[in-house]
Amino acid sequence: MRILAIETSCDETGVALVEATGGLRNPKFKILKSLVASQIKIHRPFGGVVPNLAKREHIKNLPLLLKKLNARCSMLNSVDLVAVTVGPGLEPALWTGINFAEELAARLKKPLIGANHLEGHLYSFLLPAHRTSPAARRPALFPAVALIASGGHTIVLKMDTFEKWKRLGETRDDAAGEAFDKVARLLELPYPGGPEIEKIARKGDARAIDFPRPMMRDKNYDFSFSGLKTAVLYYLRSHKNADGADVAASFQQAAVDVLAAKTIRAAKEYGARSVLLSGGVASNKLLRKTLKKESERIGCAFFVPDAAYNQDNAAMIATAGFMAFLRKKKYKLAAKGDLDI
Ligand code: KG4
Ligand code: ZN
Repeated sequence: MRILAIETSCDETGVALVEATGGLRNPKFKILKSLVASQIKIHRPFGGVVPNLAKREHIKNLPLLLKKLNARCSMLNSVDLVAVTVGPGLEPALWTGINFAEELAARLKKPLIGANHLEGHLYSFLLPAHRTSPAARRPALFPAVALIASGGHTIVLKMDTFEKWKRLGETRDDAAGEAFDKVARLLELPYPGGPEIEKIARKGDARAIDFPRPMMRDKNYDFSFSGLKTAVLYYLRSHKNADGADVAASFQQAAVDVLAAKTIRAAKEYGARSVLLSGGVASNKLLRKTLKKESERIGCAFFVPDAAYNQDNAAMIATAGFMAFLRKKKYKLAAKGDLDI
């Protein structure tokens, strides 16, 4: 089945064409084209995403991306299903995608399915750039423990199958990506903060400052990142000449230690065969390296999407749309900012 997917939940406009085959036990995806128009430069002067500006940019970008996709693939006629993100995200931005997708589906005379952005991240490890899905070749995927770490969410799930999961824990305050963004702001680095922190951390000493690892030893799978951010704030206030690289490296280490420790403890407790990492923060090399090493140490396979598919994109929405189609899950075609997984 050929899926045309649209993503507009935040500050990336995404349009993708993905070939999906297999069933609920062995879904396979081939990306025919995935285009993303990033709005980072537009929001950067504001230090974060401005919903109405995002909406305006999505309205502008969607037809351009669709035209580009069709020019390169001439494949709009072969589309079987249109998928669009209905949440979670910024509602004005989500509506833009939904309205566009509704018109498009009507024009193509094809069904339209709503997709959950978080499920897109969750399933994104199934997206190979140009290969056969690695997970599809692995019979021993489940039970799996999945960490979704993005700008708006930090969630640990236990997955028994592709359609059955249980939330083990989540952040009680800031999301992991949000903490990177806020600490970056304290260090006067531009938005989005994650890649900036990672970049300057390379020049710093991760052991220079012993920042707290909130909730790391608690016997649950919840997180708290706002205390860590506040610890950075107090440190900077009392050390006027602090080395920004050391602060960034020490903060990054603390955040990664907590994320990895809890995910691995969940994997051990639930006898996981694999650990799945996704969301914007999954781009972080220290997090990828640490979770890979720790997963393999406890005998788990480790899966993370190719770098390009950690950031918001529409190919991952095609995976969520296909899985929702197979699961017969019908999300309402209306923006739901706080849609849960
Ligand atoms: O998944 P995503 O693209 O959007 C949401 O659904 O939220 O995630 C964006 C978040 C931002 O907070 C950004 O700072 C963070 O992911 N991020 C990173 C890195 N790249 C992006 N955080 C840490 N290290 C990175 N390399
Ligand atoms: Zn996202």
